[in-house]
Amino acid sequence: MIIAVDGPTASGKGTIARAIAAHFGVPYLDTGLLYRAVGRQVALDGGDPDNPLDALAACGFADALMDDPVLRSEEVGGLASRVSVHPEVRKALFERQRAFAEQPGGAVLDGRDIGTVIAPDADVKLYITASVQERARRRWLEMIEKGIGSEDEIPLAEIERDIVARDARDMGRKDAPLRAAPDALVIDTTSFDREAAYQVVLEAICEALGRS
Ligand code: DC
Repeated sequence: MIIAVDGPTASGKGTIARAIAAHFGVPYLDTGLLYRAVGRQVALDGGDPDNPLDALAACGFADALMDDPVLRSEEVGGLASRVSVHPEVRKALFERQRAFAEQPGGAVLDGRDIGTVIAPDADVKLYITASVQERARRRWLEMIEKGIGSEDEIPLAEIERDIVARDARDMGRKDAPLRAAPDALVIDTTSFDREAAYQVVLEAICEALGRS
């Protein structure tokens, strides 16, 4: 059983995908981390994330890098988005994701192109989204919760601008742009809190799979 979870940045898809994997007792892969590791490695190498050769060279990152908390930062997220436009990088990371999806017991993968490119054969495809304003608000709250700064110190308008820019790059690239697969269940979580969003997604999956 393969469950594909795609969606834009700060849509809450990662939290939901992790909880869904725990519910069904199957392994979970946050594919964004792979692109983040490439972005981080390019920076460590002093390379240019917009140069396909530098980005491809960084695909040989050491596995231990995946555990580095710095990968979760906004800065590395931006680098990940930049290296992910190169077809060479997407090709280099394909097999690893495909092998994860093909595990005998099944798997949950989240990203941007899981339902369209990595696992078009997934049993269930979800596209989780929310309005730009709501995603910016969630990211802002998350940063305050993490102690990155106070309400006054973190400019909401700037976060919103970053999200719009990231959406444009992820949706506008030629190779494997972010979009819902034609057979994906599109779930807009704008008006849901975290728990409600999870419940709606879980119900949709159970209905699609015909199980509880
Ligand atoms: O999900 P995330 O924010 O960790 O992803 C970081 C960037 O990596 C995202 O902006 C685009 C890229 N990415 C991708 O192109 N394909 C994926 N399957 C996952 C992430």
